[in-house]
Amino acid sequence: MTTRVLVLGGYGTAGALLARLLLERSDAEVVIAGRSAAKADALAAELGAAFGPRRCSARRVDAADPRALDDALTGIDLVVVAASTLAYVRTVAEAALRAGVDYYDLQLSVRAKFEVLDALSARMEREGRCFITDGGIHPGLSAAMIRALLPAFSRLERADCSGLMRVDWNAFAFSASAIHELVDEFRDYRIEALRDGVWTKVPARKMQRTIEFGPPWGRQACSLMVLEELPRLAQSLPSLRECGFYVSGFGLVVDYLMLPLGMVTLTVAPDRLGPGYARLLSRALKATSRPPYETVFQVEAEGVAAEPGREHRLARLRVAHDDGYYLTAAAAVACLLQYLDGSIRRPGLSLQALAVEPGRFLTDLQKMGARVTVQGAPALAAR
Ligand SMILES: NC(=O)c1ccc[n+]([C@@H]2O[C@H](COP(=O)([O-])OP(=O)(O)OC[C@H]3O[C@@H](n4cnc5c(N)ncnc54)[C@H](OP(=O)(O)O)[C@@H]3O)[C@@H](O)[C@H]2O)c1
Repeated sequence: MTTRVLVLGGYGTAGALLARLLLERSDAEVVIAGRSAAKADALAAELGAAFGPRRCSARRVDAADPRALDDALTGIDLVVVAASTLAYVRTVAEAALRAGVDYYDLQLSVRAKFEVLDALSARMEREGRCFITDGGIHPGLSAAMIRALLPAFSRLERADCSGLMRVDWNAFAFSASAIHELVDEFRDYRIEALRDGVWTKVPARKMQRTIEFGPPWGRQACSLMVLEELPRLAQSLPSLRECGFYVSGFGLVVDYLMLPLGMVTLTVAPDRLGPGYARLLSRALKATSRPPYETVFQVEAEGVAAEPGREHRLARLRVAHDDGYYLTAAAAVACLLQYLDGSIRRPGLSLQALAVEPGRFLTDLQKMGARVTVQGAPALAAR
């Protein structure tokens, strides 16, 4: 039976790319949803013309309105949350449970989201609903990349992840809510990593490293940050002693002026962090973004090789694409393909990076245009 998917934020930057790729790569039916009926109609008409009008429709929905969600989720199998609506995680998750609909989100990995979803996880299991969170690439990719390298090791001891996102911000219009979420993520910033087998706080003076990202980037200054998928993965890998995620910043003006300003405003006067600040941050991102553009995620893994007679192994896995938003949508669709064929559809809450079969996930990303390279380990295989 055809799966009916409602994409909340379906005409947003990530949502529109995701909806198109999902129509292209599966036989799902897609409903484009957001607060603007005109924008949802326009995209549904465009996608309907390309993929058939029966496969794509539009719906006006405000994620803040439980009754509108109840109406919109009637007859739907899966809600994909690609909307900048972290403030309404509970409203959307509870509406999905009321409607008996599965759930996937690619929103940022913040504690407030996990507090809501973890608290609802027993109900998800009881009611047989599959919830997949932390989809996309940041979060969503790093722990899956480590898992893809696991078969090359009999004992994985270190896995350092890093990310560089050089995006052409001039190509996008930002909503105030998306900017609000970005600042919220930075307010939530935790400097933690796995050290000597224990997930621990790392002193600020030790949070920076320079990491090689290959040409044309060379070595870039990166800062340690937590992605929820990593401590959760580390719990299941007792041999792992060292693990962390290092991210390269947006540039001096944004990292050291605009984001701290936003974090302070969010703390002392959150109501003032509205469209004015969104315009300012958007202008700063656009003014400082210059080609070339590329998004790169890497894992450097070290430990004992799986093959008998080979002791030490150092392996590297790299995933890259010129368009970070396209890569986000492609990762979401690579995960959804596994959900749609039932292979990862399990009751309860899981994180994309821990739920996917990693070999197939990366192979599908490659088929969708990502550059995936492995060094020091056999090529990835979908199991
Ligand atoms: N995991 C990853 O790798 C990754 C990467 C990029 C982005 N993201 C996340 O993906 C989400 C979307 O980001 P984006 O850059 O695509 O943002 P965007 O271009 O600003 O799109 C946001 C969308 O959300 C909709 N929206 C906002 N408030 C809504 C509400 N109350 N009800 C229904 N729809 C609402 C907007 O439409 P209206 O305002 O017209 O309603 C718009 O369609 C954000 O949470 C962002 O943090 C994740």
